[in-house]
Amino acid sequence: MFLLSLIILLIFTYGFLYVYLKLTSGICKCSKHLVGKVVIVTGGNNGIGFETAKDLAERGARVILACRDESRGIAARDKIIATSGNNDVYYRHLDLASLTSVKKFADEFIREEKCLDILINNAGINGSRNVRTEDGLLLGMQTNHFAPFLLTCLLFPLLKSSASGRIINVSSMAHNRATLDLDNLNMEKETEETYSKTHVYAVSKLCNILFTVELSKRLKGTKVTTNSLHPGVVDTDILDEIYFKYVHLLKALAKPLLKNRWEGAQTTIYLAVSPEVENVSGKYFRDCKMVNVGTDQARDVELARKLWEISEKLLNFKSNF
Ligand SMILES: *[C@@H]1O[C@H](CO)[C@@H](O)[C@H](O)[C@H]1NC(C)=O
Ligand SMILES: *[C@@H]1O[C@H](CO)[C@@H](O)[C@H](O)[C@H]1NC(C)=O
Ligand SMILES: *[C@@H]1O[C@H](CO)[C@@H](O)[C@H](O)[C@H]1NC(C)=O
Repeated sequence: MFLLSLIILLIFTYGFLYVYLKLTSGICKCSKHLVGKVVIVTGGNNGIGFETAKDLAERGARVILACRDESRGIAARDKIIATSGNNDVYYRHLDLASLTSVKKFADEFIREEKCLDILINNAGINGSRNVRTEDGLLLGMQTNHFAPFLLTCLLFPLLKSSASGRIINVSSMAHNRATLDLDNLNMEKETEETYSKTHVYAVSKLCNILFTVELSKRLKGTKVTTNSLHPGVVDTDILDEIYFKYVHLLKALAKPLLKNRWEGAQTTIYLAVSPEVENVSGKYFRDCKMVNVGTDQARDVELARKLWEISEKLLNFKSNF
């Protein structure tokens, strides 16, 4: 009898949690059209990036999927064209693990496209093993932080000439778990034992937030805004890798409570289209609402400035704004 009550209670709690989470999951209610707008979504070929790109294509935007794998990029493009009926969707090769690729992408884009209205830095990896890229930076940090930084700076001239440029960074609540050490950005102080993939992910996501803070300062006086966000706990491959590697049952139970990819894309879409945020910059969002960042470091303006300068140095690059 006791066991039965307990089971019923558990089922009830689970059901309640499910309904609660679905109801509080922020949905972008704005139906704004984007005809005439040009959008880049990095990593637009799968997961949240794909859902974001598809939604923006349905609104009539010219959408560029910037991703590494050509066949997957083209397959995603075809799928978006088929479902949205918008033919103005393209694949362009971008490999964030190579700064040469980032520069090539930006050069060609600037040469071939007339404008850029929305840049969505969505692509990211789950932290990476302790390996360096051809540019000598830690793979996970380059993909999630250094390369998007460079890309944003290089594309800035185009964004600036847009009537209302928006730069959106997909960060994560994982930034809460990070402590940033500016002398250890590429985990040079770690040994085989202390190196942690999860830590790299958390640090890179904190960097996304700090960059948004510093970039928004540098953008004052322009019409370009920049914001970062936490998409929610979304059922994607990245999450699989990080949190649930050994816990299959828990994973099966947790899955319905997580956001699906469409839900996970909502805050990004909101920041890309909603007139409500047209003058908002340097802020952090989740569930389509502005919220506070999780740690003191994430709102440390001085740390943000230093991170910007160190990143420029490590990239051997000087931004001109
Ligand atoms: C996560 O890391 C593993 C290596 O540990 C890699 O095989 C996998 O492709 C990564 N997943 C993503 C989504 O990058
Ligand atoms: C997004 O994050 C990247 C990497 O941290 C950074 O370079 C870029 O400036 C950020 N963009 C915005 C809009 O914050
Ligand atoms: C944003 O600023 C412009 C110019 O100052 C103003 O016309 C517009 O109403 C503002 N939008 C919002 C949503 O506050």
